[in-house]
Amino acid sequence: MSRLTFTRWLQQSPVPLPQDLIQTLQITADCCRDISAAIARGALTGMLGQAGSENIQGEDQKKLDVISNDMLLAAHAQGGHLAGMASEEMDDPFPVTTHANSRYLLLFDPLDGSSNIDINAPVGTIFSVLETTPGSNTAEVTPFLQPGTAQVAAGYAIYGPATQLIITVGHGVDAFTLDPDSGEFLLTTSGMKIPEETQEFAINMSNQRHWEAPVQRYVGELLEGKAGVRGKDFNMRWVAAMVADVHRILTRGGVFLYPLDSKTASKGGKLRLMYEANPMAWLVEQAGGSATTGLVRILDIAPTGLHQRVPVILGARTEVERATSYHA
Ligand code: F6P
Repeated sequence: MSRLTFTRWLQQSPVPLPQDLIQTLQITADCCRDISAAIARGALTGMLGQAGSENIQGEDQKKLDVISNDMLLAAHAQGGHLAGMASEEMDDPFPVTTHANSRYLLLFDPLDGSSNIDINAPVGTIFSVLETTPGSNTAEVTPFLQPGTAQVAAGYAIYGPATQLIITVGHGVDAFTLDPDSGEFLLTTSGMKIPEETQEFAINMSNQRHWEAPVQRYVGELLEGKAGVRGKDFNMRWVAAMVADVHRILTRGGVFLYPLDSKTASKGGKLRLMYEANPMAWLVEQAGGSATTGLVRILDIAPTGLHQRVPVILGARTEVERATSYHA
């Protein structure tokens, strides 16, 4: 069976994509394929475990966090189709000066859920593409501080039993699967849709005692099942890698919460707006779901920092609306 390659998909977009954006997305996809190979060989090449360093968030970096970050930087710095990059693993933006007219900015979490690496569970790369004025100073954070509504492309690669690339350029969400023989990403699902209703939720229950009252109420009602106000039983799943939890929701539905809790309140939440919440929120909305902080639509947030954190509630529209209404 002949399937559409990612390369052709980029060329056939319903609204033609500028060449620099095509290059940016193609290089990102190729790099994700190479990161997937590096992860698969990790135990053989001694690349599992800690790097012995911390990122700006004060989190211990894994060797593969650092390797994936370096691979994305190197691929795009050579490709020269970007004006700048920003990453979870770097304090400051990484300007690219090789192509004077570049107007795209790439933001990424090079290896999301990296605590899963050592146990051979799914991890991923999340990315978001923004546009800036050619010539803007991309060594500064200012050009990057745009709301999620300004994204021109967003997606993630998931490194699980299969490596897949999920992407939106604003016309729905498509999924590609890496063919290990050809090294190409091939279209396997077109137009992913999140059912409005669900009986599955994802949250780290160990934080229950730290949650705010609206989340205590919402999850409490889910846990009451058939006997409670919801009148139906719910199932719970938590992979502890946002990529994998969101992928499940895009594939079969559900709702995901990383709410504000007393442990993370002083930081604004746990998940990062620019390269985690924004790209995932756009993908979820493009698939018919919703994404809020409990108070506001994630995509409408005017960012104040590159590494800003936000509470996240996303997935099935009716569940996100209910959880959000409890915060009102
Ligand atoms: O980036 C942060 C992250 O690893 C997400 O991918 C994931 O959803 C979450 O943290 C897991 O958090 P916890 O450690 O509370 O399970």
